[in-house]
Amino acid sequence: MTRIVVVGSINMDLVTVALRFPAPGETLLGERFLSVHGGKGGNQAVAAARLGADVHMIGAVGDDAFAQSLCDGLAEEGVDVTHVARIANSSSGTASIIVAGGENEIVVVSGANARLEHSHVAKAQHLIANADAVLVQMEIPLQTVEATLRIAHAQQVPVILNPAPAQPLPEAWLRLARYITPNQHELATLLGADASEDFRDLMRRAPCPVVLTRGGEGAWFREEGEPQHQTGFAVEVVDSTGAGDTFNAAFAVFLHESLPIAVRKACAAAALSVTRLGARGGMPRTAEVDALLARQRV
Ligand code: RIB
Ligand code: NA
Repeated sequence: MTRIVVVGSINMDLVTVALRFPAPGETLLGERFLSVHGGKGGNQAVAAARLGADVHMIGAVGDDAFAQSLCDGLAEEGVDVTHVARIANSSSGTASIIVAGGENEIVVVSGANARLEHSHVAKAQHLIANADAVLVQMEIPLQTVEATLRIAHAQQVPVILNPAPAQPLPEAWLRLARYITPNQHELATLLGADASEDFRDLMRRAPCPVVLTRGGEGAWFREEGEPQHQTGFAVEVVDSTGAGDTFNAAFAVFLHESLPIAVRKACAAAALSVTRLGARGGMPRTAEVDALLARQRV
């Protein structure tokens, strides 16, 4: 079994489905509302667990009404929540999401995620040391991201940095990552570059290997030399929320097979995830990924 440690955010997603996005100052009647478990860290943990990995989550929830439900949601998927801290006098992370025509707009309030500290990661060092891969995103304090990169790197465990939401990061941190997994916009932000610059040039300039996601157009990856392309899988998009999280989880779980296989399976898993509403709706099991790979030979 692949052992994965995820260090990241856990949110309650408050999802409104509407026919279009409201203009500033406008009130719109929506079609549907649902509250579902989300957060980039929690989503990646669940996606990895559905793909058969042994997953430990390092994260934080508050002491509000959402906290227990968020922890139960992870545990029910088989994610170990021993290292999910309960932060007193704090709200759990929330994401207010509007979904319209398969696209989304999201406002995240960090709550307890902002209180996930270096010490929480340090306490779980033994798990990181024994992991096949570590996944970390940027909805937690940057010092905690840095601690994760340093601890994993020191233990020679491959750490995948999903730089979302993106901020510029010191090159020295990026060199600690085995892979970074940005989209084009995130890579430009990360490197302090112009977003209009060709993404292949940005990939060549990054100080570490890059796997760049391109939504429906699949992904590009570069260890060294020329960037390689993996075509996307054709699916009907219902909700793209969490597609990146599914991609990252599958990439981490299948990385031991080979870089091109991991990227291909990650594209397939992400494609399946967008066919259902909610970040975790549509996140596939391995058999579903294999079935899509057999159906569409891209
Ligand atoms: O990546 C998708 C996630 O981003 C959502 O679940 C939401 O919680 C935001 O953190
Ligand atoms: Na989904």
